[in-house]
Amino acid sequence: MRIGVDYYPEHWGRERWEQDARLMLKAKIKVIRVGEFAWSLYEPKEEVYEFAWMDEIIDFFGKKGIKIILCTPSATPPKWMIDKYPGILAEDIHGNTKLFGTRKHYCFNSEIYREKIRKLVGLIAKRYGKNPYVEGWQIDNELGHGNTARCYCEECRKKFIDWLAKKYKTIECLNKSYGTVFWSQIYNSFDEVIIPKAGTCFDFDSGTQGQNPSLLIDYYRFCSDSIISFTKESVDIIKKYSDKPCTSNLLDAAVNSGTGIDYFKLSKELDFVSWDNYIEFQWGKAKMETVSRDHALLRSYKKKPFWVMEQQSGPCGWSKMGPSPDPGKLRLWTYEAVANGADTVVYFRWRACTFGAEQNWHGILGHDGKENRRYAEIMRTGEEMELLSLRVGSLMPKARAAIIKSFDTEWCHTIFQNVEGFQYDNLLLSFYKPFYDMNIPVDFVQAEDELSEYSLVLAPALAFVSEEAKNNLESYAAKGGTLVITFRSAFKDEYNRMLPQTIPGPLAELTGVKVNDYDPQFEKSTSVAGIFGSGTADIWCDIVTPEDAEVLGLYTESYFAGTPCLTRKGTVYYLACDLDDKARSNFTKYLCNQAGIETRLYEQEGIEVVDTTDGKNHVKFILNHNNYNTVIAVNEEYTDFLTDQKVVNTIKLEAYGVAVLGKHLR
Ligand code: GAL
Repeated sequence: MRIGVDYYPEHWGRERWEQDARLMLKAKIKVIRVGEFAWSLYEPKEEVYEFAWMDEIIDFFGKKGIKIILCTPSATPPKWMIDKYPGILAEDIHGNTKLFGTRKHYCFNSEIYREKIRKLVGLIAKRYGKNPYVEGWQIDNELGHGNTARCYCEECRKKFIDWLAKKYKTIECLNKSYGTVFWSQIYNSFDEVIIPKAGTCFDFDSGTQGQNPSLLIDYYRFCSDSIISFTKESVDIIKKYSDKPCTSNLLDAAVNSGTGIDYFKLSKELDFVSWDNYIEFQWGKAKMETVSRDHALLRSYKKKPFWVMEQQSGPCGWSKMGPSPDPGKLRLWTYEAVANGADTVVYFRWRACTFGAEQNWHGILGHDGKENRRYAEIMRTGEEMELLSLRVGSLMPKARAAIIKSFDTEWCHTIFQNVEGFQYDNLLLSFYKPFYDMNIPVDFVQAEDELSEYSLVLAPALAFVSEEAKNNLESYAAKGGTLVITFRSAFKDEYNRMLPQTIPGPLAELTGVKVNDYDPQFEKSTSVAGIFGSGTADIWCDIVTPEDAEVLGLYTESYFAGTPCLTRKGTVYYLACDLDDKARSNFTKYLCNQAGIETRLYEQEGIEVVDTTDGKNHVKFILNHNNYNTVIAVNEEYTDFLTDQKVVNTIKLEAYGVAVLGKHLR
């Protein structure tokens, strides 16, 4: 475990570096990330390359003992390039060209842009690939951020057509798969196929409502594939010259829902994943379970430790600011990341910038560059991380429960929301929350993944179920795994068309139910009762006939009162409706009990407990998210890994305090 900073030495005079390095070393900062927006410094004019400035940075900080994460600067193609090749600019869904002036103004499919960045990445990789101070690479910056994953330009349309021709072979096959006979959309050739811009149909909401849903989902898949191939191209170039690992800084799940990259697929091209964790800023405060869920997603993408590449370290915002993190929170957030599987936490940014669009985005140091209370807290954290890393290796929680997440399904539910209030990611979060409240770690998996390490798997609203997924889920259940399938599952085919079978089509036998009808809960809710106590369904009610499943819960009102809302066949549950927080929490406890996952007697509000291991040690993190001191019961004997004291029975925690309790595994 260790800490680092996102650093822009080129923003400050050379004379400042000595002081920065001294302060970094004093705070045990081990790594700096540099260069992600520096294209115009590398290539100030077309094919005129300058590297001396970066040579100096790497050499200076490397010699001080600080390692470098070097970025590809693809997020900021320079002004001369835009002027000469305006075609590289991205087009938005309304057909507006994204203009020069911020960043991420490029189209991932632009041949010229790709050629230019290939060349630059090649030169950078060649020059620094064997540099002993460079320990890794970051590709681009926050791929897809700010609605940039989906470009709607003519070049994208042409590439999309190639992608379609490869997938469907003949236009007849595409027509059939898309059902273009509906509304007279039959295409005579691939060249005719449109990309789904806004306003091509009845433009009720200036979006894509009314467009062909098969076309939409294919376009989303194509855009995700385009970014992934762009990323792979940079990775492949770097690998020719360097054996150091490549990553890219991902976005949190809430943001990514709108971004449209299949992170499971993207992660396959990266050696490790990392993400940017802003918790309290201009645009809101994240809920505790949301941050935990995002860490869980990150450790799940590659099933290994990850980095936080940008961790909030001060008050943040662009036009206005969010709150200044209370004393203790920076340290707490760092431990939260480490407890959930991060082995390096890099703070954004080292020092607040005095110019440019992000003057309000504070770092550890303020604009004046002087030591402050945030620096003191980071210094304490850095010292502790150094200590901890002498005792233990990278830590990961060992989850026995998993939630299936599918980006394809997410896009399906975005195209057709099902009912007001239905949001796939929020639904997944609502299933995650009771586990979080009970301090039970959960991983995220794909339906086709090996599931045998989990004793409980939940598949909320899994719209698409491939043949492979069906077989996988069946064999998981056959081996005794506890599986929960919910409403809005297994009702679509891969072309985003409704299945002609009764829901849950391919999962009918496994679940032992038939969904003969449903009642979307639009401006109403329906009461339910069963093994989860009593509660309400507020989003969706399937009206279910159990074929060979037992009934564990019933609707208690409406015209379908008395019919099942929860069933079980063997170890497979069918949850026909959403449940309110209390009922869902009860249901989760019930499931844990059935799956042999231990639940504790009680939970304390605002206390997060994460049990982790590095294979040799068991380490229990206790994190106090409350702004008051408290006492926690500890029912085994531990050593406090920060103070070396024995801990028996109880431990006291200061406001926003943390405890790291460990023991060797025999
Ligand atoms: C992140 C981005 C950084 C910086 C930061 C503050 O999303 O990766 O480059 O812009 O936000 O806005």
